[in-house]
Parts: sequence; structure tokens; C-alpha cells
Amino acid sequence: MKRTLIVGNWKMNLNTHEASLLVKRLNDKIQVHRDVEVVLAPSLLTLQPISLEIDRRKFRLAAQNAYYKDEGAYTGEVSFTMLRDLVNYVIIGHSERRIYFEESLELIRDKVQAAVRNGITPILCVGETQNQRAAGETSRVVHDQVVTALSNLTAEEVEGIVIAYEPVWAISTFGGQVAKPDDMEKVLKLIRHQITELYGDKAAASVRLIYGGSVKGDTASGYLALEDCDGLLPGSASLNYHQFPDIVAAAYRQTRGAGDEEKSNG
Ligand code: 13P
Repeated sequence: MKRTLIVGNWKMNLNTHEASLLVKRLNDKIQVHRDVEVVLAPSLLTLQPISLEIDRRKFRLAAQNAYYKDEGAYTGEVSFTMLRDLVNYVIIGHSERRIYFEESLELIRDKVQAAVRNGITPILCVGETQNQRAAGETSRVVHDQVVTALSNLTAEEVEGIVIAYEPVWAISTFGGQVAKPDDMEKVLKLIRHQITELYGDKAAASVRLIYGGSVKGDTASGYLALEDCDGLLPGSASLNYHQFPDIVAAAYRQTRGAGDEEKSNG
């Protein structure tokens, strides 16, 4: 059985002191659970101190970005090679990086390949903008992002990765536009179908698909109940020591529900 993955993307928030305080609070509220994997993605600056503070039975770490070259004259960058002993995951191709830092499909492909080469699991983010959605281009945009990003991987490598569907129009919209779980399921299904076509059934069944976009404690279970949703990628809510544990608790309830169902069916 796949473990449900809950990844808190802290984005460019919290200095070392604040990050440490949040970890302490989360540690008090979050329990170890066999079927749920909880990942924290702090800023690069705080990864190292946080790595010394976390209870590794409860939390794993992700970087929010890295550069695809292993070393060399690339001022200001940090490589996957440098991160390999520190993190299990790296978020790659987040829409904020595609938009504000003009990351191209090819650069994202190279980063995904560098992550795998260094033994780090990529969390590849894909998703369409509001305009693309309005123009009916969601499938094409997501297809291009997935196909290009994975093009240098083997089917076996694809089995181990994570793809996060994060529609750009649904990010940071608390109180605004809500992404309906049923609509999200359609795109998650589409992504899994693309993986089947390109890499076969085994890769499609193993790859973990997660959803991100204004997820909160009280909306988490609606997405987690979807057949193709293997986890969540909250941003703002992951900075809140009530909301994030609530999201993790929703995942606990969900996995327990699935287990009961299996039992009653069997
Ligand atoms: P919000 O949960 O703040 O909408 O952010 C989602 C996100 O971008 C996570 O990567």
C-alpha cells in the first residue's frame, strides 16, 4: 500500500528561530503513523538546523528547489548533490518558479533528472493558469509539463517519483476560488493515464499523485477521498500549527477508513 504523503511547502517564510518554533509545535501535535508520511519543506537556509531538530520517525525533509549541475561556477545556486544527505525530496517546477523565475520545461526536466541521479525523490509540480483553464487548455498544458519533465527517466525511475497537481488559479486563494475535488480528480486521472501511456501500468500504479492549492484542515479530506489522490501539498496552511496537524489528522482518518473498507470487502 502507498503511504499518504503530506508535504508542507513553507515557501519563503520563517527565519531559523521561527522555523524551529514551528517544528517544536508540530512535533507536539503530530503523531507517528505507519501509513502517512509527513514532509516539511523549509527554506534552504533553515534546512540544516531543522534537520538536527526533527524527530525522524515523524518528519522527513524536502528542499523547495535546487540546481541541476552537481558543482561548479554557478553563483548563488545549491546542487542536488549538496542536498542528498539532508533531504529525501525536492520540489521541482513549482508554478512560482515557472512564473517568477522563468523556469522552462527543459530546465525542469534537467532538475528532475539531477534529483533522481542523486537519489532524491522529485516532487514535480504541474498545473495550468486561469487563462489556460478558461481557454480549455488544461489537458494540453499538464500533458506537456509531465511529458517533458519525465522525458529523461526510465519507467522504473518514474515509479518512485511524486507529481503534484497544483492549478495556478487555486493557489493562495483562501476565501476565493475553490478547486472542486471532482474537477481535480479528472486531472489526476488524466496524469495517471499519461503515465500509463508513456511508462506502462506499473509506473502509473506506483507514482504518487498529490494535490496542492489552498488546502486547509477542513478541506483536506475532500481531496484525500479521491481515488487518484495520494496526498496533499499545502502552502499557507503548513505554516499554521493548528491547520497543518489537522491536515495530517485528515490523512490518518482517510487511511484508517480505507483499511476498514478493505477489511469489510475482504
Ligand atoms: P497554498 O496552500 O498557500 O495555496 O499553496 C499551495 C502551494 O503552492 C504548495 O506548493
